Amino acid sequence: MSPHKPVLLKESIEFLIRDGHGIYFDGTIGFGGHSGKFLEMSDASSRLIGADKDKSAFDYCKKLFENDSRVQLYNTSFSNIDLISKIEFIESFDVIFADLGVSSFQLDSKEAGFTFREDVPLDLRMNREEGLSAAELLNEFSEKEIADIIFKYGEEKKSRKIASKIVERRRISPIKSTYDLREIVAEVTPEFYLNKSLSRVFQALRIYVNNELEDLKLFLEKSVPLLKKGGRIGIITFHSLEDRIVKEFFKYETLDCICPPESPVCVCDKQQRLKIITRKPVVAGENELKENRRARSAKLRVAERV
Ligand SMILES: C[S@@+](CC[C@H](N)C(=O)[O-])C[C@H]1O[C@@H](n2cnc3c(N)ncnc32)[C@H](O)[C@@H]1O
Repeated sequence: MSPHKPVLLKESIEFLIRDGHGIYFDGTIGFGGHSGKFLEMSDASSRLIGADKDKSAFDYCKKLFENDSRVQLYNTSFSNIDLISKIEFIESFDVIFADLGVSSFQLDSKEAGFTFREDVPLDLRMNREEGLSAAELLNEFSEKEIADIIFKYGEEKKSRKIASKIVERRRISPIKSTYDLREIVAEVTPEFYLNKSLSRVFQALRIYVNNELEDLKLFLEKSVPLLKKGGRIGIITFHSLEDRIVKEFFKYETLDCICPPESPVCVCDKQQRLKIITRKPVVAGENELKENRRARSAKLRVAERV
């Protein structure tokens, strides 16, 4: 059985795989749930280029698709879509897709320390060969920097109190594990709110150490010129910060003028590049919600190149 259950699978296919043929880019191949279905619905001359930052996900999919010559995989960020398409001699895609965040496998994996339910090293990187771990961040950044990260990326109101406790604690001994952080958050949070607060703090650190929001913006910007006319981009998000970026980006790309209203003539050269297909984000239906907890916060937005 796959270590991850794909969300909004039926809806992704319905909006993205329309005539059973195409060149697809899946920026978050994960455990092949979406890609596998895209391939199943497509003919022998279709192609699928997949990427994932996480080595375990990449290795899993390498094996999963080893006998499918339509598939090429890269162990890198989706923000390298421009380089990947050059290497593959692909000028444009019919579909560009990403299902953001982390997989159930990553959440359950003890190595990456994504879970605060187990006492494991506090890392939170999808690619552990790149950048700082969350523990390094908490031991090295200033109190203000830590508070800002927790507030900006976790929308946690107690960010200052938590940052102050982190700094107090690291003077005694370095912060190493998920439980070290859990204890610190528990000192300033009533038991009833602890899990919610921990989710926000872990989310904030994860977003920061993986550069998630900047990567997403870069990916969106690079994707539009790489979409065929009539081709579609579909993004599944899991929290409001990601969703806002996708929503605002799609909206901006529907505009064909950004001159101030008082300007008598248009001087901006802006061109509309996308049309929005899903006015409201697509969310999971009742059945999926019953079967998959991760689907609760999933939102799919789709736009089409004009
Ligand atoms: C929700 S899972 C995708 C699951 C996949 N759709 C499936 O059905 O198996 C998200 C995946 O995106 C990867 N990921 C997150 N940010 C990434 C990025 N910037 N570039 C490439 N992969 C990324 C994670 O490592 C994770 O494997």
